[in-house]
Amino acid sequence: MNPKWWKECVVYQIYPISFKDSNGDGIGDLQGIISKLDYLQDLGVNMIWVSPIYKSPYHDNGYDISDYLDIMKEFGTMDDFDTLLREIHARDMKLMMDLVLNHTSHEHPWFLESRSSRDNPYRDFYIWRKGKNSGPPNNWESYFSGSVWEYDSLTDEYYLHLYSKYQPDLNWENPVVVDKLHEMIEWWLKKGVDGFRFDAISHIVKAAGLPDADNPNQTATVRAYDLFSHLDDVHTLLQNLFDNVLYLYDIMTVGETSGLGPEQALNYVGDGRRELHMTFQFEHMYLDAASAGSGKWDVVPWSLVKLKEIITNWQKVLHRRGWNANYLCNHDQPRSVSRFGNDGQYRVKSAQMLATFIHMLEGTPYIFQGEEIGMTNIAFDTIDQYRDVETLNYFKEKRAEGVPENEIMNAIYKKSRDNARTPMQWDHNEHAGFTTGVPWIRVNPNYPEINVEEDLKNPESIFKYYKKLIALRKKHKVIVYGEYKLLYPTHEEIYAYTRRLDNDLLVVILNFSDREPIFQMPDEINLKGINMLISNYLPGEKDDLYHLKLRPYEARVYLGKSHLHKH
Ligand code: NOJ
Repeated sequence: MNPKWWKECVVYQIYPISFKDSNGDGIGDLQGIISKLDYLQDLGVNMIWVSPIYKSPYHDNGYDISDYLDIMKEFGTMDDFDTLLREIHARDMKLMMDLVLNHTSHEHPWFLESRSSRDNPYRDFYIWRKGKNSGPPNNWESYFSGSVWEYDSLTDEYYLHLYSKYQPDLNWENPVVVDKLHEMIEWWLKKGVDGFRFDAISHIVKAAGLPDADNPNQTATVRAYDLFSHLDDVHTLLQNLFDNVLYLYDIMTVGETSGLGPEQALNYVGDGRRELHMTFQFEHMYLDAASAGSGKWDVVPWSLVKLKEIITNWQKVLHRRGWNANYLCNHDQPRSVSRFGNDGQYRVKSAQMLATFIHMLEGTPYIFQGEEIGMTNIAFDTIDQYRDVETLNYFKEKRAEGVPENEIMNAIYKKSRDNARTPMQWDHNEHAGFTTGVPWIRVNPNYPEINVEEDLKNPESIFKYYKKLIALRKKHKVIVYGEYKLLYPTHEEIYAYTRRLDNDLLVVILNFSDREPIFQMPDEINLKGINMLISNYLPGEKDDLYHLKLRPYEARVYLGKSHLHKH
């Protein structure tokens, strides 16, 4: 099973601008994070992933870095960072940096030089081309609406940006760029950071010649996808990074790699690849999109059977060959309880059930801030209360196309990244105790009911349940390494699976609905010596596991001995 600490740990993602403000400017900061480390230690997580905190004009909330070696002043200073790292280590936790290597900010000094003239030595740090037929060099569409090309009259050329025009793509074909990035990564490693999440890493190489995309059946956002994703040279570059820099450090790496299946993921994370430890896959994030090609905003109901298919495939293909990163939410996605659970009557039960699902899979579980207290989506009244560049561009584009405002807002309510970005809800005080000033984005008005203070008081809370799940993972190797097997693949309400390691057998039973379906323990599982490890309900006096009526969003996990199997 090739044990590794990064397989056994639980990651907690902090979105710094929304976590905790220590100085009343309405923006979360490093001292704010430091003040909450005891809380995270109490939860039991071992690794903290902090979304970007580098110097940045913040057009895309820090994923537009203007100095890789400095801290954005609103977040604090490098001294604050050093204190944060020390305090994390003092609590036996680790820190993972979020590193954006595909692009920089348009305010990065490299880009300022690059755009200043065609013969500037930094010109080739980015991707510049002449226009074609008085338009952009090719027909690729950016992730954040419109062309990937921005015209710059100063030198009469266009530069490429897969994301917003404030995020020019770096030119990884230039060895000087690669050297500079390696140096920078090494600088952080020498400081003692414990890992990296590599943003948009599958896009660092673009197809030779930057040809037009020719796939009229797909919509704009993905039309050119194959021309800038997962190209062979991405792997060569990652292996170089590993062989030149990373191999010397006992760190954990995870790559953001949309649009791949598990077989393809093995190219990044397969044992012996010398690339990454795990990747974030997106297949289950498209379950509620009308089609993979239609973009995320075209929302349809999702199906449990399909979710099972996707997750099972990842569990099976990567077992003993690579490693999974398991998540339901992050700063780019809606809140998990609103999307996959029930954020009304069954908010607590369904959040606990979803947590059970993620924490009992093979792979490293990720918790996004606020998920551990069941924070929900937000529906602001007007577009000007939104802050996310993707959401604002989408609104503008659709309005220009004449789509009625309420239709656009409904899609935004379901899918805007701001759903996950409203401030962390700490207590009952104004602005949920996040800030004493005016928050950069409004707090979800449900904070008097949903907040950390409440959850810490209540023994049945979502927080307390997460704590138990995390503690169980530390105790039972079968939860980390056990081989997964799906039960009842076509059941539309129940997701059940087993995990097996040596003599241990774990049975995970999850009701994904607000109804009361019957679960039947498969015959091959002998119930002698089986114990319940955790559940979000009290077990009934006379539960019959061969005919168990599950309650809404009920989750149960049993541990037994696999040699007791009747075969
Ligand atoms: C993925 C990040 O998670 C997202 O927030 C960002 O907008 C894009 N990459 C561009 O860096």
